[in-house]
Amino acid sequence: MRIDIFTLFPQWFNWFFQQRHLTNAIQSRGLAVRLFNYRDYSPLSNGQVDDTPFGGGAGMLLRVDVVCAALSGVYGGSCEAVREKLPVFLLSPRGRRLGSDLLDELAQRRDFALLCGRYEGFDQRISDHLSTEEISIGDYVLSGGELAAMVVVDALARRIPEALGGENSALFESFSPGLGGRREYPQYTKPASFQGWQVPEVLLSGNHAEIGKWRREHLG
Ligand SMILES: C[S@@+](CC[C@H](N)C(=O)[O-])C[C@H]1O[C@@H](n2cnc3c(N)ncnc32)[C@H](O)[C@@H]1O
Repeated sequence: MRIDIFTLFPQWFNWFFQQRHLTNAIQSRGLAVRLFNYRDYSPLSNGQVDDTPFGGGAGMLLRVDVVCAALSGVYGGSCEAVREKLPVFLLSPRGRRLGSDLLDELAQRRDFALLCGRYEGFDQRISDHLSTEEISIGDYVLSGGELAAMVVVDALARRIPEALGGENSALFESFSPGLGGRREYPQYTKPASFQGWQVPEVLLSGNHAEIGKWRREHLG
């Protein structure tokens, strides 16, 4: 899977892409990520990327001609035709809420692009003519789409077995088919007793049939 991220702040991702599960996913070739700065493709003087909203109002909007130039520059051809080549998802609080159903759909994709907004967001024509769908990571407003893009990438990378060092943990975690789409059961580690707070006796019993039964009964 290849994810292309368009942003004004590619440096936000420097730390993120050094994290072990992501380097694992990338080295295993299960995941490829490319970062593109809109500013590098701006057809305007001084690398301008935004402008004030028509009709007035606070802040600045990413310009449609700039995003169009970035998409054409990266994929070739007309910017409107890019979404016929690969899905172009625009990150926005107004979008479809990211959940395991949408992640399942994204995980089926071979490649897609994520457009990160900044400031007041995007000129609406970017959504109407250049993007496939808007995606939101929740009902709150972030300063930019970069954190939202990281959430999408991180959640998808966990599904690549090599990302987690070959562990099975992603197969049996909250919302996974392994747990029937339900929330994970409570987990405990040592010490078995702390300040009188006891780990459930069955988990110390070594009886795997009983442990499995307890865990199934405690799915959320
Ligand atoms: C300050 S926000 C713009 C908010 C916009 N004016 C509004 O009221 O809906 C700037 C950018 O951050 C990103 N963003 C903010 N909140 C988000 C969310 N919940 N999910 C996805 N992206 C988000 C989007 O890319 C957005 O264009």
